Amino acid sequence: MIWRGIINKYREFLPVNDSTDIVTLNEGNTPLIPSEYLSDIIGLNVFLKYEGLNPTGSFKDRGMTMAITKAKEEGAKAVMCASTGNTSASAAAYSARSSLKCIVLIPDGNIALGKLAQAMIHNAQVIAVQGNFDDALNLVKEITSKYPIALVNSLNPYRIEGQKTASFEICDSLKDAPEFHAIPVGNAGNITAYWKGYKEYKESGKTSKLPKMLGFQAAGAAPIVKGRIVEKPETLATAIRIGNPASWKSAEAARDESGGLIDSVTDDQIIEAYKLLAQKDGVFVEPASAASVAGIIKLQKSGYFQSFSGNIVCTLTGHGLKDPNIAIKNIKDPVTLKADLKTILNEIGL
Ligand code: F0G
Repeated sequence: MIWRGIINKYREFLPVNDSTDIVTLNEGNTPLIPSEYLSDIIGLNVFLKYEGLNPTGSFKDRGMTMAITKAKEEGAKAVMCASTGNTSASAAAYSARSSLKCIVLIPDGNIALGKLAQAMIHNAQVIAVQGNFDDALNLVKEITSKYPIALVNSLNPYRIEGQKTASFEICDSLKDAPEFHAIPVGNAGNITAYWKGYKEYKESGKTSKLPKMLGFQAAGAAPIVKGRIVEKPETLATAIRIGNPASWKSAEAARDESGGLIDSVTDDQIIEAYKLLAQKDGVFVEPASAASVAGIIKLQKSGYFQSFSGNIVCTLTGHGLKDPNIAIKNIKDPVTLKADLKTILNEIGL
C-alpha cells in the first residue's frame, strides 16, 4: 500500500469524513529504531521513534496535517501560531500547500537557524517578538480570539488528534503498547496526544495494556516539575524553552493516570544524550529531542527500571539539522591541512 499520510491511515480515529479534502505531505510512518547501545544501558528493549524524519523534520507535521485540513474545511483564510520553531516550520509548509496565509510569532533570538529558514522559505509572515514563547502564545491567543484567523498551536484540539497517531504507529510496530514511553515536554501537547492515542488504541481492543508515560523538561524550563510557572525559562534546547505550558493539566493527567512521572534533565545531560545518539546510534536529533534519552539514562542511574522488563520507546521529536549551530559548538573543529598526501596520512595516523 502506498503511504498517504496519517489521516488516510488512521481516519477511523480522526475527525474526518469522506468529503474532507485532506492537506497532507505524507507525514508519519516514521521508523521505530531499536537501540542496542541504550538497551544495554537501560536493561529494557529501547526503541527510538525518529520523528525527525517527518516532511518538515519534526513531529509537528502529524498535528499540522489535521489542523490545516480542518482550517480549510471550516473556510479559514489565514492561520497563526506562536512557536519555538518547529510548529512554525510545519504550519508554514502546510499553509503553503493549501494556499493559506500563515503568520508566526517566534521568540526573538531563540529559535534554531534551520527552523527560521523553513518558515521563511515557505513564505510565512514571520514576526520575532521581544519576549519568550509564553509571551508570543498569549498574543496569538488574544489575536485569534478576536479576528478571523485560525489558531494552530496545540491548544487547537485537531493538533492533538493528529499527533496521537504516533502512538498508533508504535503499537502497530510492536504489536502492543510498550511498558514505558519517554518524551520531551515543552508546551505539553505531545505527551497529551500520545497518552490519548494509547488509551484509544486500548479501548478499541488493538492493544492489551498502557505504557507508563515518562515526560522530561529541561531543568531551566521545568514548570510542571516545580509546580509553578517559570517566568524566565532558560535552556539550550530552545524547542522546549517554555515556562507556562498550555497543556499543563493534561500532561499531569497523562503522568498520573499512567503511573509515570515528569522529571527534569540538565542541559549537560541533554548534550550528553545528544552526542550518544549521534555517535553510538547514528541518529542525529535536535537537543530538545535528546531530553527523552537523557531522562531514561537519569532514571536508570537511580534504579528506577530495576524491577521492569519489556519495551521502552523514546520519542525523538526533531531532526538534528534543525539546529546545526549546537552540533558544531559541541564538537572540536575539523583541522585544515595542505592538500598533500603525506600530511593527510600523517594526520590519520597511517
Ligand atoms: N521537541 C521538539 C523538537 C519541539 O519542537 C517541541 C515543541 C517539543 C519537543 C515539545 O513538545 O510542546 O508538545 O510538549 N515545540 C513547540 C514549537 C513548542 O513551537 O515548535 P510539546
